[in-house]
Amino acid sequence: MTTDGGDDLSALGPFRDAADRRVELRPCAGPDDRAPLAALYGCFDAASRAGGVPPAAPPALDRWLDVVLRFPSVVAWHGTDAVGQVFLAPDGDGHELSVFIDPAYHHAGVGGRLVDAALALAAARGGGRVGVLTRGDNRPMLALALAHGFVVTGTADGQVELARDVPAAE
Ligand SMILES: CC(C)(COP(=O)(O)OP(=O)(O)OC[C@H]1O[C@@H](n2cnc3c(N)ncnc32)[C@H](O)[C@@H]1OP(=O)(O)O)[C@@H](O)C(=O)NCCC(=O)NCCS
Repeated sequence: MTTDGGDDLSALGPFRDAADRRVELRPCAGPDDRAPLAALYGCFDAASRAGGVPPAAPPALDRWLDVVLRFPSVVAWHGTDAVGQVFLAPDGDGHELSVFIDPAYHHAGVGGRLVDAALALAAARGGGRVGVLTRGDNRPMLALALAHGFVVTGTADGQVELARDVPAAE
C-alpha cells in the first residue's frame, strides 16, 4: 500500500540539508519509485544494512522491495536521486517504522525529516502506536528515535525496541 492521496504531507515541504543540498520529501509513488529505490539500496555499504536489511542484491532486494512498496512510505529526493526512505510496516494495531538514508547523506538531517514525515503519515492514518526495532549499537538510529519521542520498551539479542504513541490528525 502506498499513500492514497488522503495523507496531507504538504506542511513538510522541501528543505536544505546540512550540506546545503535541496532535498524534497514525497509520498512513495509505488512501482514508479522502484528503480530509484533499487539504486538507493544498491549503494548501501555493509554498515548500513541493519541485520542484512535491505538485501544487497537481486533477487532478494527485488523481493524486499515488493513488500516495502506496499507500505505507507515517504521518499527523500535530491534531484532525480532517491536518497532516503521511511516506511511504516503494519504491526498489530500500529506500525513499525524503518528509515534508510544513502550513506552519502548521513548526519545531514534527512533521517530526522523523514521520521517527522512518517509520524505525520501515521497521524493522518488515525494514529496509534509506532515502534522501532534496531540494533543496540546503532547509535544514530537510537539518537534519532529518542529525539523524536520514542522510549525504549525492550531489549533482547542485541536489539532494542522503542515505541511512541501518535495522536490522530484532526
Ligand atoms: C539511522 C539513520 C537513518 C540516521 O539518518 P540520518 O539522516 O543520518 O540522521 P540525521 O542526520 O537526521 O540525524 C538525526 C540525529 O541522529 C543522530 N545521528 C545521526 N548520525 C549520527 C552519527 N553518525 N553518530 C551519532 N549520532 C548520529 C544525531 O542525534 C542526529 O541529531 P543531530 O543532527 O542533532 O546531532 C542513518 O544513519 C541510516 O540510514 N543508517 C543505516 C540504516 C539503519 O540503520 N536504519 C535504521 C533501521 S530502523
